[in-house]
Amino acid sequence: MKLNLKKLSTDDGRMIYDMLQEIESNDNGFHNAVKGMSYEECKIWLRKNADMSEGIGLKEWMVPQTSYWMFIGEMPVGYGRIRHFLNDNLEANSGHIGYAIPSSHRGKGYGNELLALLLKECDKLKISTVQIGANKNNERSNKVIVNNAGILVKETCTKNIYLIYRLL
Ligand SMILES: CC(C)(COP(=O)(O)OP(=O)(O)OC[C@H]1O[C@@H](n2cnc3c(N)ncnc32)[C@H](O)[C@@H]1OP(=O)(O)O)[C@@H](O)C(=O)NCCC(=O)NCCS
Repeated sequence: MKLNLKKLSTDDGRMIYDMLQEIESNDNGFHNAVKGMSYEECKIWLRKNADMSEGIGLKEWMVPQTSYWMFIGEMPVGYGRIRHFLNDNLEANSGHIGYAIPSSHRGKGYGNELLALLLKECDKLKISTVQIGANKNNERSNKVIVNNAGILVKETCTKNIYLIYRLL
């Protein structure tokens, strides 16, 4: 069945909440604030994230960021987010994209598909050089990035930093 992405919305409900409980709060370097939140707290979080995508309510150190859910049919099987541009900290230590697959759906090829779909969203945001960081010991994520044409350009103590060149 075809996988597709939908942008985070304040109308998102239980299925998204339940999926987010299957991703650790720090899952190999991917931060998931919703892990352990109540459903009501999640609703407030959705509002903040919808605003963040529009550049509303950002702290000084933040850049606009859009979150996406990946679906197979009606079932959510992935979470990705794209920062619209990099500030100095993001450029030095991570990048534009973060992504995660809920634990019960890992190892089915969805990680490769999720990054491919997020790169298409980067195209819409006119990000021609996409930077992504992965923890050095995160074998799956490093594979996902290389499978999506990632070129290793830099290493920090803990991370591999990749660039992906897009033809816009
Ligand atoms: C990283 C992550 C998104 C990968 O998603 P996934 O659906 O499990 O990955 P896929 O099934 O698409 O497999 C990706 C690659 O990892 C490989 N892989 C799968 N299981 C593996 C394992 N146990 N050890 C090493 N590699 C493994 C696959 O073979 C595949 O490579 P290939 O296509 O070249 O064969 C997922 O594991 C995850 O959510 N991890 C926690 C969050 C995270 O690490 N996010 C990335 C940091 S921002």
